[in-house]
Amino acid sequence: MKVDILLGLQWGDEGKGKIVDYLAPKYDVIARFQGGPNAGHTLVIGGEKTILHTVPSGIMHDKPMNVIGNGVVIDPVTLVKEITTLESKGVVIQGRLFISKKAHLILPTHKVLDAASESAKGQSKIGSTLRGISPTYMDKTGRNGLRMGDILAADFKAQYQHIKEKHLRLVKQYDFEFDVTADELKWFETIDFLKSRDNLIDSEYYLNEALSKGKNILAEGAQGTMLDIDFGTYPYVTSSNTISSGACNGLGIAPNKVKEVIGIAKAYCTRVGGGPFPTELDDEVGERIRQIGNEFGATTGRKRRTGWMDLPALKYAIMLNGVTQIAMTKADVLNDFDQIEACTHYNVDGRITEDIPYDIDKAAIKPIYKSFKGWKQDLGAYSNVEELPEALRAYLHFLEADLRTPISMLSTGPEREKLLFKSSLEMA
Ligand code: GDP
Ligand code: IMO
Ligand code: MG
Repeated sequence: MKVDILLGLQWGDEGKGKIVDYLAPKYDVIARFQGGPNAGHTLVIGGEKTILHTVPSGIMHDKPMNVIGNGVVIDPVTLVKEITTLESKGVVIQGRLFISKKAHLILPTHKVLDAASESAKGQSKIGSTLRGISPTYMDKTGRNGLRMGDILAADFKAQYQHIKEKHLRLVKQYDFEFDVTADELKWFETIDFLKSRDNLIDSEYYLNEALSKGKNILAEGAQGTMLDIDFGTYPYVTSSNTISSGACNGLGIAPNKVKEVIGIAKAYCTRVGGGPFPTELDDEVGERIRQIGNEFGATTGRKRRTGWMDLPALKYAIMLNGVTQIAMTKADVLNDFDQIEACTHYNVDGRITEDIPYDIDKAAIKPIYKSFKGWKQDLGAYSNVEELPEALRAYLHFLEADLRTPISMLSTGPEREKLLFKSSLEMA
């Protein structure tokens, strides 16, 4: 019995969904612990792509149960669309997907407030996915929110109306046109759908009982460490704790139940939306990475910003999360590069440092790079990490030594099976 946590070490979109999907049969339960439909987790199975926003990435396998934890915020419209799309493809949902009664609901007016707040910020907008994430977490911490369990209450509509009116008063502060009539109709239809499915649970009891029966749980993170509300590049962050401690809060699991913390990092960096990105490549190299890596958002379709690997940020993420092993994704994107770079230090106003400045959103950072020889080979023929081309092994050895953390998995393509393991570390 144990909980392993899998999460992103960069600015999201590291390939978490792919790795969770691969590892899922080794677990009894896959549980999402924070975030909401701002997430887009891509699975490629048998050539077919599935993008999950709220449903955990274990759903495509028969074995594990899938739990949406209390720390997640749920838009019932997105969730029901995901459920019905999966069911139309023959995926069994009933009896395999459970939702915490304590997960908070995203209302149509939360999305209006998100959009109104972003448009009022003008140039300094966060670049939110506009899925209503921040206003919903604000209502949660402000103790005004509606939770999934509330949909069963006889006065649910009155509770909804009360919050909606508060939102309408708030939105008056902005000069913002909106009409939620159609969205509300759909919202209530999908609430009825979820009610009829009878899949709401007290997930903290469910998960802890599973542990006491000897079951294994994989906690699936959303977003990435550098988007964490406390430790990310504030204010250009999301509104939840994306780091490993968020799995304890977001599922009701005690820290002493956690075993492995699997950190996912791309072989380079990307970021969607605004905010600091020290190693950003605003040139043809960045564009080449974007095109080869198909770096366009899974949720919004926006262009992802691209840049080289940022080791100070990665070390920070390893420290905050207690990462025990790293899965590196998208190594194949760099197959044709003669030379690749990794930022080892920052020059912050003439001071050389590995620390992330408190005011990273304002600091003038110049990355200091170390160059590595490209491996110039297709990685498709390799089946374990030890046999990889010499240049790639040298790069991985450097990273492991510098990060003091083993790289246990190397992903070499979007497809489920394109994953190499370091044989000594293959997970039990
Ligand atoms: P997530 O949000 O962390 O689950 O990641 P996303 O699904 O948003 O973005 C990762 C993208 O990279 C998706 O399009 C995946 O299909 C793709 N992907 C994942 N791993 C690899 C890999 O090793 N190589 C390549 N080329 N693509 C990958
Ligand atoms: P996954 O789970 C990448 C970014 C947005 C924006 C900021 C705040 O697929 O890795 P929000 O909608 O949360 O208010 O947006 O966070 N963002 C993500 N970037 N991947 C994600 O999720 C993201 N979820 C939010 O682009 O900059
Ligand atoms: Mg994503």
